[in-house]
Amino acid sequence: MNEHDSERIAGLLEADGMSRAETDDDADVVVLNTCCIRENADNKLYGTLGHLKTWKDAKDGRRIVVGGCLSQKDKDVVRDRAPWVDVVMGTHNVHRTNELLQLAIVYGPVTEILDEAVIDDHALFPSALPVRRETSYNAWVTIQIGCDNTCAYCIVPAVRGKEISRPFDDIVNEVKQLAANGVTEVTLLGQNVNSYGRDINLAERKSGADVRVKTMFADLLREVGAVPGIQRVRYTSPHPKDMRSDVLEAMAETPAVCEHLHYPLQSGSDRVLALMHRGYTAQRYMEQLREARRLMPGIAITTDIIVGFPGETEEDFEQTLAIASEAKFDLVFAFIFSPREGTEAALMTEHFIEPEVVSRRFERLRQIVEPHALEMHEARVGLVEEVVVEGPSRKNEGVMTGRTRQNKLVHFATPSQLRPGTYCTVYITRAAPHFLQGRLVDILQEPTHKIRIPVASV
Ligand code: 5AD
Ligand code: SF4
Repeated sequence: MNEHDSERIAGLLEADGMSRAETDDDADVVVLNTCCIRENADNKLYGTLGHLKTWKDAKDGRRIVVGGCLSQKDKDVVRDRAPWVDVVMGTHNVHRTNELLQLAIVYGPVTEILDEAVIDDHALFPSALPVRRETSYNAWVTIQIGCDNTCAYCIVPAVRGKEISRPFDDIVNEVKQLAANGVTEVTLLGQNVNSYGRDINLAERKSGADVRVKTMFADLLREVGAVPGIQRVRYTSPHPKDMRSDVLEAMAETPAVCEHLHYPLQSGSDRVLALMHRGYTAQRYMEQLREARRLMPGIAITTDIIVGFPGETEEDFEQTLAIASEAKFDLVFAFIFSPREGTEAALMTEHFIEPEVVSRRFERLRQIVEPHALEMHEARVGLVEEVVVEGPSRKNEGVMTGRTRQNKLVHFATPSQLRPGTYCTVYITRAAPHFLQGRLVDILQEPTHKIRIPVASV
């Protein structure tokens, strides 16, 4: 979500006549769009702002903008610690970037943190704003902002506000527009996609219409998947407490929806899940996972796991390892618990786990999940996979990198370079825990999106 906001901020600045600078020295404006979900963004931010003070002092007219979660949370701290920042803005101010910058140029430093309640739909959803995308064949599409859950470790509800669903037709229209511009793959974004539409239905109900309060995510998947030209639909993230069979069925029955589910587990211990307020048990999680595999044999399943949540005992952790073994994830994003100021878990200091214990657990988890990842990758060897080209591999220009429908990274040699967005088939020859290798079989489809031609500024 944060990266998508950055694309929009860049898009707005471009729409206002700016262009991307290649080096700091060339730049007139630097925007830092902060995210504070896990790492210690604070330390990084203030360190970077220290360097930027020297940059700003070196030439008249240079401006610094700080946006995102951290300034939403700590606007006064940013002002106090770095008074040379020109604009401090929050997570609901993206659409105001240009105005705020102009205000700062004319009147001096400004701070603006808007409440979502005062903004209309078009400004609320970053997808409604101009954009400067890094890639032209795939696109993020926001379907919902904010989050109404109360996961004890999570800062998102505090910095992103309450959950608001974007109108159904706006989403579908944006996807149609993207498809008309040559985009073939979309990723629907929301903090808790399974509850998409709950607030829309409630609003209709309040206005007198007799509708059942049901979520609309399954309908959205079907509708987006039916947009001509859209060949791949992905989404992130679902919440196991709200996952119902209708969504899994919609995935299975919509050919464009990819065979990949990112399904955050967080912990395999029911006791820890309850402390986290996740609202499901490990067994319920596994039931849905099995249902997903029953409906979509071969689906790739990835997850997030937090190691060292306050009070996590050896036994709790063993349960996480047991579920990880049973689930056989294709990829696990493991995170060490990090206290986020303002969250419930940050107050559980008495139960914080010793860092050495956490590191040991983290390493044990890695040892359990890597062989599974390798096994799931090895199952692809000998198959011909549809791959969308991302670009040349970083290490070797003669090797292209792309993604399968399961979202697995594939490196494959080609006689000549293929444009990002090309669809091809690749014969998989080798597997590693984090990537596949293969050789090109056929080119299925060349991209149709326009190529971005750099325009020199005068
Ligand atoms: N500490 C560690 N991991 C966290 N996550 C969110 N908040 C924290 C935290 N305080 C992880 C969760 C979530 C992912 C996006 O980040 O696993 O699913
Ligand atoms: Fe955070 Fe939980 Fe909301 Fe996800 S569902 S954004 S983890 S509060």
